[in-house]
Amino acid sequence: MDTKNKKRFLLVCLGNICRSQMAEGILKSKVKKLKLNWDVESCGTSNEHEGEPPHDSSIKVAKENNIDISKNISKTFKKEYNNEFDHIYYMDEENYKDAKEISGSSWNQSKSDLLLNLLDDVKDKNVTDPWYGGEDGFYVVFKQLERACDKIVEKFK
Ligand code: 4NP
Repeated sequence: MDTKNKKRFLLVCLGNICRSQMAEGILKSKVKKLKLNWDVESCGTSNEHEGEPPHDSSIKVAKENNIDISKNISKTFKKEYNNEFDHIYYMDEENYKDAKEISGSSWNQSKSDLLLNLLDDVKDKNVTDPWYGGEDGFYVVFKQLERACDKIVEKFK
């Protein structure tokens, strides 16, 4: 594929084992279906889970939607990502603030946004972290991430 015109998307949460991993899986599956020349990756602002696979419930909910994220591994946000990606979406305001701090002078405001700013009908712009609750939360978050990823596709395809 033409690498020059490739669009690069990065999805960011805290641990890169729940929200941004599910979002990566969802967006990648849409990209594949539509044969878009996009690269989609995810990471977390904390290195606590670096090298680990996604949370069991993230893997389970994704699998029930025919998306396999079981072989993904958690990686940590780096300031260089501000240059390497074209669009960077954050799951919540804390992730956004932490990444801004890590980035220092590399921060690129025009590429950075909260994912839920794409959904006009959602008041709270933070994707709830399902890590702190039961499995039900993963289903709720997955649905919301699907709607947001549809908006990414609509906006940039
Ligand atoms: P995520 O969820 O940011 O959606 O991957 C979390 C995963 C792990 C932790 C917090 C949130 N943790 O504290 O270890």
